[in-house]
Amino acid sequence: ILLTLTPACSKQTAATQTVKSAEPQTAAEISTAPLYELAAKHGFKFGTVVNPQSIKKIAFQSMIKNDFNSITASNEFKAYSLLAQGPSMNNAQGMPVMNYSQADAIAKFAQENGIKMRAHVLVWDAYMPDWFFREGFRGDGAFVDRDFMLKRLEYYINEVVTHFEENFPGVIYCWDVVNEAVADGTNECNADDERMIRTSRSGTTNHFYTVIGPDYVEQAFKFARAAVNKTNPEIKLFYNDYNTFYTPKKEAIGKLIQSINRDEKLCDGIGMQGYVGGYGKQEGCMNPNDIKLFSQAIKFYADLGLEAHVTELALRNYDNSKAAEHADFYEKFFQMLAEANKEKTVLTSVSIWGLVDNAVMPKSSYEYKMNGPFCGIYNYNLSKKEECKRIEKVLQ
Ligand code: GLA
Repeated sequence: ILLTLTPACSKQTAATQTVKSAEPQTAAEISTAPLYELAAKHGFKFGTVVNPQSIKKIAFQSMIKNDFNSITASNEFKAYSLLAQGPSMNNAQGMPVMNYSQADAIAKFAQENGIKMRAHVLVWDAYMPDWFFREGFRGDGAFVDRDFMLKRLEYYINEVVTHFEENFPGVIYCWDVVNEAVADGTNECNADDERMIRTSRSGTTNHFYTVIGPDYVEQAFKFARAAVNKTNPEIKLFYNDYNTFYTPKKEAIGKLIQSINRDEKLCDGIGMQGYVGGYGKQEGCMNPNDIKLFSQAIKFYADLGLEAHVTELALRNYDNSKAAEHADFYEKFFQMLAEANKEKTVLTSVSIWGLVDNAVMPKSSYEYKMNGPFCGIYNYNLSKKEECKRIEKVLQ
């Protein structure tokens, strides 16, 4: 018997056990009901990010099982992780071959523990190997033409969606279909494109754009919609991006999704990544105006008939002497999230990516810049920080 695994029904059982009578007065009186249960009272799932290493650690497993009912794989569901170049080159039909071993280990962990998954992501230009767009999947092959690339993309999306649904039925509740297709400013898109579709990223060409064309986002959604219609129509389809609460990006995303939903609802919602604060520096962190902008953006997308997920939340803090301020900021942020669902449920999932403090991560690392060393809701030893308690307080 694997004692570390709880039965699939554990979430439902726990949900019936928490009965609260009086309003809590102090942090000490606040119930220690799982965070996902408290979040459910406000209409959203409570999630976080995992990878093949983290799910093997017993302490991390317990933390996930105690507090979360949604997980996202950090990289393992991305095309650059699934695509296998050698086997693809040997495929006579010119269609890609995938290696699911790492992704399956994560889906299996979710399945065995009754946890649902945000599947992330089918189409993302970043880190995408360019052989995927070339003849014979050869690094030195010529780029294939639009029609053939569309066939490949359709095949890839259908295969991947079907694989997980057949092997782990009902585990995935949404797919991020496209990630970060909208540029932040006019320097990485065509100046006259009101949807601001990214033509490049930090000097690297977006091959989805150059080989397929500016409609690659809607094409991907069409293929994904067809795949979920066939396998499990309950799977929701999301467009995911960062800075979704800033102008002009917010408006461009709105235009993009309105345009692709014109004839048929292909996209159900917006994944709002949730990196909030200065990138790699304290300046700009914990700005109350960002909470206001975030709340306005949730409303903006809801008015377009879209759900919102907060998909990669990292409320940044690089200065441990500001720990108390960070806990306050967390509390205010979650007040805003709970408020968003006051009249109607529009926010249906919140995933924390800046989960655990790590005071010793090197300043030069990407992770340091992305999350900051003190942005967590758990300490390095996985004990709960004040931030967790504030979330509990707000969601009571
Ligand atoms: C983006 C992606 C994530 C992850 C981060 C970097 O936000 O959506 O999957 O790669 O970048 O940590």
